[in-house]
Amino acid sequence: MSHKVAFSFADGKTVFFDVRSNELLLDAALRNGVNIPLDCREGVCGTCQGRCESGSYTLDYVDEETLSADDLAARKILSCQTRVQSDASFYFDFDSSLCSAGGTTSITGQVTAVKQVSETTAILHVDASAHPGRLDFLPGQYARLKIPGAGVWRSYSFANRPDDNNQLQFLIRLLPDGAMSNYMR
Ligand code: FES
Repeated sequence: MSHKVAFSFADGKTVFFDVRSNELLLDAALRNGVNIPLDCREGVCGTCQGRCESGSYTLDYVDEETLSADDLAARKILSCQTRVQSDASFYFDFDSSLCSAGGTTSITGQVTAVKQVSETTAILHVDASAHPGRLDFLPGQYARLKIPGAGVWRSYSFANRPDDNNQLQFLIRLLPDGAMSNYMR
């Protein structure tokens, strides 16, 4: 059974879409062209955070450093871990333009380096110079990367502003058993 969901944004705009039975809220939003900013998709980074204003939902996994007990009591949610159990409305504390800035561009790149910068983070360097023209993006936009060998897609925010050669960098949080983390290791 699907549910109807409303997303409201700081600029006063609201969008409506359907969420399929047991579908993650973030997946439903992306499927409907509402590109909520995201990073880890694992309930850790907090980028996809919003607040439920009405309706019921469950959360799969939420890192306790990301949302505290008080946050959870205030019905803050992580879209990537939320499954609605009824029609529901959510508020996001940023403008709607952040979710629909531009369309989608598909490009092929080559991994040129993986540099571990701390115990839990690494930077993935990708040469996307085969793409004609300089890649440009707004804060909050992200790339969906197909992880070599794993056949799955993960979304990451850009960690740099590429030069004319489209040398991209993505800051990746290393998880104990994440698809990208395992690939990078
Ligand atoms: S918590 Fe990182 S994308 Fe949802």
